[in-house]
Amino acid sequence: MQLQGATALVTGANRGIGQHFAVELLRRGAKVYATARRPELVDIPGAEVLRVDITDPASVDAAAAVATDVDVLINNAAFTAGGNLVSGELHAIREVMDSNYYGTLAMIRAFAPILARNGGGAILNVLSAAAWTTVDGNTAYAAAKSAQWGLTNGVRVELAGQGTHVAALVPGLVATETLKDFAENAGIVFRDGVMNEPADIARLALDGLEAGQVEILDQMATDAKASLAGPPRALDLAAVAV
Ligand SMILES: NC(=O)c1ccc[n+]([C@@H]2O[C@H](COP(=O)([O-])OP(=O)(O)OC[C@H]3O[C@@H](n4cnc5c(N)ncnc54)[C@H](OP(=O)(O)O)[C@@H]3O)[C@@H](O)[C@H]2O)c1
Repeated sequence: MQLQGATALVTGANRGIGQHFAVELLRRGAKVYATARRPELVDIPGAEVLRVDITDPASVDAAAAVATDVDVLINNAAFTAGGNLVSGELHAIREVMDSNYYGTLAMIRAFAPILARNGGGAILNVLSAAAWTTVDGNTAYAAAKSAQWGLTNGVRVELAGQGTHVAALVPGLVATETLKDFAENAGIVFRDGVMNEPADIARLALDGLEAGQVEILDQMATDAKASLAGPPRALDLAAVAV
């Protein structure tokens, strides 16, 4: 997928990895719809800004009515603070599932016909190595990411006929404010080099998309996927901490 001259839509582009996706896509010569629940927070020169809450069907439909030239959909937005499944707050567990699974699905259902009309194009879903392990303290998030992996694989099969390439970015740890806050609250100091910089992970993802890869993994995700051949295990945060 050639990004020069493409038209991309990024969800959750006001901060974190999504903001870096939008900036890097512009740098590669794409037109970019930088979308956010709070568009007033998007500060990306050259991007077209749209309000999109991926869990609000009217908002998703309104974006699809405007952004009819999209041929690359980057499903990055997610609520990540799900907490634990048994002891956590049910509303947070629902919110993490609503955004990661149903929100991503809503975007795909709204934009699949647009991608088809524009020649097939590509979808990139942002998953997590947590999908292939679990994380004590955030097992709800890990479960939602597992569901999003299944969703990604299903959609890939369904949209192959219309020529849409469906890819997954699967990072381990990315040094966004959200992850840094999580680490601080949990009293974790990560070892040097364990976290990816958000700009680096956006570049890795877009290199992979341009190369036609189906799954784009960093080292932690590569290890997590390999571990699926053995008994289920949780991510050992102590092993990546100082
Ligand atoms: N950081 C990591 O270590 C890491 C590792 C693996 C995977 N990931 C994945 O990478 C993606 C981005 O993570 P991040 O660390 O950049 O997160 P972040 O900094 O917390 O940003 C999350 C973004 O998603 C948006 N969002 C949340 N719910 C939304 C909704 N219903 N509709 C539209 N936008 C919504 C947020 O908007 P508001 O500003 O309005 O809240 C924000 O823009 C997520 O899918 C995450 O699971 C992150």
